[in-house]
Amino acid sequence: MTATTAGESTPTQLTTYLPSAEFVKNAAIPSMDAYNALVKEAETDYEGYWGRLAKELLSWKVPFTQVLDESDAPFFKWFADGKLNASYNCLDRNVEKGLGDKTAIIFEADGGEVTKITYKALLDKVCRIANGLRAMGVKKGDRVVIYISMSIDGVAAMQACARIGATHSVVFGGFSAQSLRDRVEDTGAVAIITADHQVRGGKLLPLKSIVDEALILGGCDSIKNVLVVKRSGSEIAMTAGRDTWMDDVVKGQSTTCEPEWVEAEHPLFLLYTSGSTGKPKGVQHSTGGYLLHAALTTKWTFDLKADDVFWCTADIGWVTGHTYITYGPLALGGTEIVFEGVPTYPDAGRFWKMIQDHKCTVFYTAPTAIRSLIKAAEAKDSVHPKSYDLSSLRLLGSVGEPINPAAWEWYYKHVGGSKCPIVDTFWQTETGGHMITPMPGATPMIPGSCTLPFPGIQAAIVDETGKDVPNGQGGILVVKKPWPSMIRNIWGDPERFKKSYYPDDFKGKYYLAGDGAIRDEKTGYFTITGRIDDVLNVSGHRMGTMEIESALVSCTDLVAEAAVVGRPDDTTGEAVCAFVVLKRSLPMGDEAKAIAKQLRDHVGKEIGPIAKPKDIRFGENLPKTRSGKIMRRLLRSIAKGEAITQDTSTLENPAILDQLGQAY
Ligand code: WTA
Repeated sequence: MTATTAGESTPTQLTTYLPSAEFVKNAAIPSMDAYNALVKEAETDYEGYWGRLAKELLSWKVPFTQVLDESDAPFFKWFADGKLNASYNCLDRNVEKGLGDKTAIIFEADGGEVTKITYKALLDKVCRIANGLRAMGVKKGDRVVIYISMSIDGVAAMQACARIGATHSVVFGGFSAQSLRDRVEDTGAVAIITADHQVRGGKLLPLKSIVDEALILGGCDSIKNVLVVKRSGSEIAMTAGRDTWMDDVVKGQSTTCEPEWVEAEHPLFLLYTSGSTGKPKGVQHSTGGYLLHAALTTKWTFDLKADDVFWCTADIGWVTGHTYITYGPLALGGTEIVFEGVPTYPDAGRFWKMIQDHKCTVFYTAPTAIRSLIKAAEAKDSVHPKSYDLSSLRLLGSVGEPINPAAWEWYYKHVGGSKCPIVDTFWQTETGGHMITPMPGATPMIPGSCTLPFPGIQAAIVDETGKDVPNGQGGILVVKKPWPSMIRNIWGDPERFKKSYYPDDFKGKYYLAGDGAIRDEKTGYFTITGRIDDVLNVSGHRMGTMEIESALVSCTDLVAEAAVVGRPDDTTGEAVCAFVVLKRSLPMGDEAKAIAKQLRDHVGKEIGPIAKPKDIRFGENLPKTRSGKIMRRLLRSIAKGEAITQDTSTLENPAILDQLGQAY
């Protein structure tokens, strides 16, 4: 890879990195000319472009005759009269192509045991689960909640749902019983697939008992069956008539299972994510359009080849795990790594050791993981990437939050050996797949910028009235045209869908991403400047400030009022900072520490450990304007430890600023 120093045009005077001649040689998109030709094709004949790709990348049982139907905008339909099956596209057709003996998944357990499964064996497994589900009466259109950790069983469970046309909704294994209950109730699911336990960082953590707790909380009467995968084999409670071991579900089931051919718009999955208001929303994705973008982005952004060993470190509980573990790489017949554990166990060299052991070629992770591994590597040589043979790598990726240039350059140099392009992929749960990202064989890379839109994606930056802003001037990130893998609806709440994503401000015409962005004056490159709503991004996990505030005030005997803001954090990107007014006198010292711990545990119980506030500050009141609105900007300054420059003359009780100065 050659590095050239960019001219004055780049905002931060950073180096521009070009893909090496060797990478370019076999790249799917090998030049900016090739990239521009695709962009042009999409501009000239938008439907023709997507229609061509949908035919090339997917196998259709019934071919579609119409590409895009805008008659009920913003409820767009893609390939609506076509029929297909996602599981058939990921499994059967690879076996039919002669890839039956190819390894689909290399699974590495927390403790290091490795299990490999071929396409044929994965297809057999999925068919048996699918037949088992059918035998229980689960059918097309039913929802199935999956609450399981990273495993072949987890991927197979998702594929089995897709096979019979059941809509899966995976709930991240770190969410609490309360969060699980809320999602089960909202989906109206008929079954839950879980495991007895999960193993992370050498620790055995419960899953099934949390399902039991969630179901006792009430509102989950729709659940008829709970299927339990044996992970630990330790004793757990089973409710007769409701709970069945997965081994018994699949026992005697056939390894053939006719796929349910569904309409392209049939909901493949619901995935809950945080918004600025209210409860998490069930983002509804389609089958055809979603699968197309999953396959296409895996092909172009990750340049996936037949002999690649692809590793996306995300959990299947997040959208990244859906698109780049369960669907994209399998749709292309790739080989991928699935990892159960955590990057720091048994030590912070785990990722590097696994890349070495499995000869991983394409590696996709989050900036927060990179930043924490940098810290560890700088403190101890044995966990530094240089202590491992990472020469198999040819491409690196980043997702979930902005990657700071220093982390980008470390990743490039120490992990990629200064020869691997890095794709900084900007996208969202709602977008289904990459939206703005370099094409690794074509786009000159500038650390900290996600560069240019994926071919066909009409990303733009506008002001509050929807008018384009010139490059060099920041604004609101929108997408001007519908695209195949876009969110179709918020489950059960079309009004909220319209309000959140197609607001009247832009006459309901543009998709509102919820992020701010700026384009470079000369290159036109996009840099994401962060959320413009009350959504926080902690370690790449999305959380609404309101959700955490509700969790805090639900501690009714203690908390009178709470406000939550984010503050920058070196490792996690953003950290949760809570300002709390207690129903008792202001605590100090050890007592304040003890109450802070109690509140953190409470939030952990209400939402999950990821939402626990890092800083808790107590005050006798919160700073408010005369009309009683909480001065959030002021809270953000306090959270950051900044000098206060805002006008505080309207504060009723200025002494609270001193109280809030102390974080516990
Ligand atoms: C942020 C994860 C900067 C952004 C796939 C977005 C990013 C939110 C990037 C979506 C990136 C994701 N650069 N910011 N490359 N990727 N984001 O739904 O704020 O969990 O709106 O989807 O993460 O998070 P979500």
